[in-house]
Amino acid sequence: MTEVRPGIVKAVIPAAGLGTRFLPATKATPKEMLPVVDKPAIQYVVEEAVAAGLEDVLLVTGRNKRALEDHFDRNYELEHALSRKGDDQRLSLVRESADLAAVHYVRQGDPRGLGHAVLSAASHVGDQPFAVLLGDDLIDPRDPLLARMIEVQQERGGSVVALMEVAEEQIHLYGCAAVEATAEDDVVRVTDLVEKPARGEAPSSYAVIGRYVLEPQVFDVLARTAPGRGGEIQLTDALQELAKSDAPGGPVHGVLFDGRRYDTGDRGDYLRAIVRLACEREDLGPDFRTWLRDWVREEL
Ligand code: G1P
Repeated sequence: MTEVRPGIVKAVIPAAGLGTRFLPATKATPKEMLPVVDKPAIQYVVEEAVAAGLEDVLLVTGRNKRALEDHFDRNYELEHALSRKGDDQRLSLVRESADLAAVHYVRQGDPRGLGHAVLSAASHVGDQPFAVLLGDDLIDPRDPLLARMIEVQQERGGSVVALMEVAEEQIHLYGCAAVEATAEDDVVRVTDLVEKPARGEAPSSYAVIGRYVLEPQVFDVLARTAPGRGGEIQLTDALQELAKSDAPGGPVHGVLFDGRRYDTGDRGDYLRAIVRLACEREDLGPDFRTWLRDWVREEL
């Protein structure tokens, strides 16, 4: 299931957002560098791409994002200091992120929305299908999603989005898909897409979560997609066009996901993600769980 056929080797990770929901932490630090337990959020996402066989990773960055480049590069001073101390464990942690993947960068310039960020990847991606991973969604490596999406794309062609059922009061926070069943239980045909539908107007409870496998024709569509919701060029709007026409780049299928997903996009979800992941860590989890249980019993 995790085999990647020739054709999809590149991952695009938009990382140009201003991270205003996390100010002042994000005044001088990119939000992608905020730690989730003890690893920057972006590293989980790059690791996920690599686990699905995508070792060419393009980060779409903007101003103020130099820390991202430093994180995926060598740090000889630190490596030297750790190796002098004989601290091999930490040394390997420092080297790990530099050796993970071939990480490339393109700057978005004007941040004009997710669709615009993806469009900035056009010349790096070229004419092969590619994946897009949004950094606010962390997918638990025990529930691999991207590999399944790649498999579906390779079997069916066109573009593939990840869909997750969410509660009615949550759907306005997401792109939402109208769907039809296919012969496979976890795959649906997407017949329509709406970016962040107004309350009561969502066509379904299927939310688009931040993983996409796209045909390169999406770039032609994005280049002529007018600003949509929030005055931004929306990836959802371009995919809606692909879902509705017989144009190259379509059709659009959805892979239904009901695994573990951690949202780091807003402060409350970010805190919940850290607590959940810390509880599950072999090294930190046992003590942390005990503390948490006592603390909740005594304080809450
Ligand atoms: C983006 C997309 C939205 C998608 C969401 C998933 O929105 O525009 O369609 O459902 O990511 O996390 P954002 O959360 O960046 O506003």
